[in-house]
Amino acid sequence: MTVYAIIGGSGLTRLEGLDIRQSLAVDTPYGAPSAEVQIGEYAGKEVLFLARHGHPHRIPPHRVNYRANLWALKQAGAEAILAVNAVGGIHPAMVTGHFCVPHQLIDYTSGREHTCFADNLEQVTHIDFSNPYSEPLRQQLIAALAAEGVGYSGQGVYACTQGPRLETAAEIARLERDGCDIVGMTGMPEAALARELELDYACLALVVNPAAGKSAAVISMAEIEQALRDGMGKVTSTLARVLKG
Ligand code: HPA
Repeated sequence: MTVYAIIGGSGLTRLEGLDIRQSLAVDTPYGAPSAEVQIGEYAGKEVLFLARHGHPHRIPPHRVNYRANLWALKQAGAEAILAVNAVGGIHPAMVTGHFCVPHQLIDYTSGREHTCFADNLEQVTHIDFSNPYSEPLRQQLIAALAAEGVGYSGQGVYACTQGPRLETAAEIARLERDGCDIVGMTGMPEAALARELELDYACLALVVNPAAGKSAAVISMAEIEQALRDGMGKVTSTLARVLKG
């Protein structure tokens, strides 16, 4: 049976309903992960949970120790990762409250520690990353969203920006020309590190605001936080469906 891990993003620093049996402080070659890895029962399954930004939410996207997080989950026994990400909507279908299970990504980040394949190598290794997400895992998320009856897109291109500032309207226009549908700050290098560590990985993205220039209004933290509060119940019930199979 596959051991699933959930990486919770903004708005999901705790997994409501997780019956925690163990909290593991995992030491990794890259330092400490964002938080302890919680191991417990959720939806009748043993599951691992890690808060990407720490608990309480305090680590900004560009400071997350992605290498330590992925390493810690692998070390704790994870085989498949369900990553939850809050995003801005670029494509007109990506309105606030909409879900997207991206099938592709473009990495616009810079200066992040992005690989476990740098030091003490026996051989230079290049992972295949043509399809950055696990298709079977994506299909499980899509089936769960369909069963939940929520608005979702079963594919999309995720743009990962550096943050922590939001983008300019011109940057979003450029991402749109590049073919991006949603924009977030935490999808990379997380997805690539999962591939390096041979962990299946898929993303459940919740749109929490129109991306810069896509609405006349200023993007506010209050608006984003409200959208997270409104959407998190659906996120957790979708994850529960995936785990129940
Ligand atoms: N841009 C980048 N990251 C985000 C956004 C956004 O508009 N909303 C939530 N995460």
